[in-house]
Amino acid sequence: MLDLEIRPVPPALRACGTARVPAHPIARSRYTSPDFAAREAERLWSRCWQMACRLEDIPEAGDYVVYSVGPLSFLVTRVSATEIAAHVNACLHRGRMLREADGHATQFRCPFHGFSWNLDGSCRALVNGWDFPHVDRESFRLPRAHVATWGGFVFLNPAPDPEPFERFLEFLPAHYATRGWDLGQRVKAVHVRKHHRCNWKVALEAFIESFHVTETHRSAMTYLGDAMTQYDVWEGFRTTRMISPRGLASPNGPPLSEVEVFRAGMRPALGPRAELLELPPGMTARAALADMRRRALLAEGLDVAEVTDCELIDTIQYHVFPNLVLWAGWGSFLVYRFLPGATPDVSTMEILFLQPVPPGRDVPVAREVKEIGPDESHAAAPELGGFAAVFDEDMSNLAALQKGLHAMASAGPVTGVVQEARIRHFHACLDAFMEAAGP
Ligand code: FES
Ligand SMILES: [Fe+2]
Repeated sequence: MLDLEIRPVPPALRACGTARVPAHPIARSRYTSPDFAAREAERLWSRCWQMACRLEDIPEAGDYVVYSVGPLSFLVTRVSATEIAAHVNACLHRGRMLREADGHATQFRCPFHGFSWNLDGSCRALVNGWDFPHVDRESFRLPRAHVATWGGFVFLNPAPDPEPFERFLEFLPAHYATRGWDLGQRVKAVHVRKHHRCNWKVALEAFIESFHVTETHRSAMTYLGDAMTQYDVWEGFRTTRMISPRGLASPNGPPLSEVEVFRAGMRPALGPRAELLELPPGMTARAALADMRRRALLAEGLDVAEVTDCELIDTIQYHVFPNLVLWAGWGSFLVYRFLPGATPDVSTMEILFLQPVPPGRDVPVAREVKEIGPDESHAAAPELGGFAAVFDEDMSNLAALQKGLHAMASAGPVTGVVQEARIRHFHACLDAFMEAAGP
């Protein structure tokens, strides 16, 4: 398909991950066992780089985001124009969490006895300091996690001596150097947090393969080449990718004509009006869908004249270990973050839209996170638009998956060699990462 492009194909798209991942079964206890979740808290979340927030969330000095994962909690704080800190979100007096929700502060004053802390984490004032002659004010500072930024994201790592951030990013900076892909130039226009009744890995894994499209997203099968998806796993790297081509009927469904595929591909945007569309003479469905997308983006003032069809309509999606999923190109502007909940049976999935900003225009930042309960439809967040129905289709499996994993009498999931390679690779990386934490 790339060879059929008439515009220059970026090297990131030509890159292919060809590593074979042995088709070992995945133990189901990894999703259900409290011991495994405790091991993750101890050996994964306390040691890995993880996306804490967007730079747009904390534009002004004093802005902060509460980022919590398992038992850990941090105040990701804009200390000054040039400094961001991730303070451990616990008062050094008796340990009360300093903040329970995002906000803006000139200081962090603890609601319990009133000890206060400066934005940089230094001790501002004790109450009845005469009672604390043994406390050295200078060293009485909120401990910090390491912080780094890339692509407009703030990442943190709680480990005292974390792996270098550049190593964690692997080839992401190289791939996202593709013209127009820079996520630092995009703005968080939507932020939704969906609560799921499943393990965080169950949710994540439902979004990093297109194998389920045939059954779960029946209507998409008419224009998405689900079983023709390219799955990239690179030897020696944790980051994986998939590219699902659009503008082709799934090989799992009945054969369709080009005009049928074109109309099906326009249906999510146009509804029944798509049935009136005709294919321009000599054009394939794929080319016509890309053309529609290109025109729409050009009309918004976005510079996509020289962007390939692949970047305009296909799903190009990276999984960044452990829990971040980034789309690339211009097909859609999605980001997902999966986080564990209070038990192995619950989790959250956050959905962000990182909108490109046409020159001279403003895209309003979503500063509030829209919460959607475990039994609530994604339609509760109208800002998700047509994606809500698709996410609901995904949701229809998740709680039942978690229950099935508890009920399963076999050792655990059996996965496809190609289409579920990313999932097994993720588990191999997870084991390697947790084992590296020591005995
Ligand atoms: S716990 Fe914070 S002031 Fe006492
Ligand atoms: Fe899905």
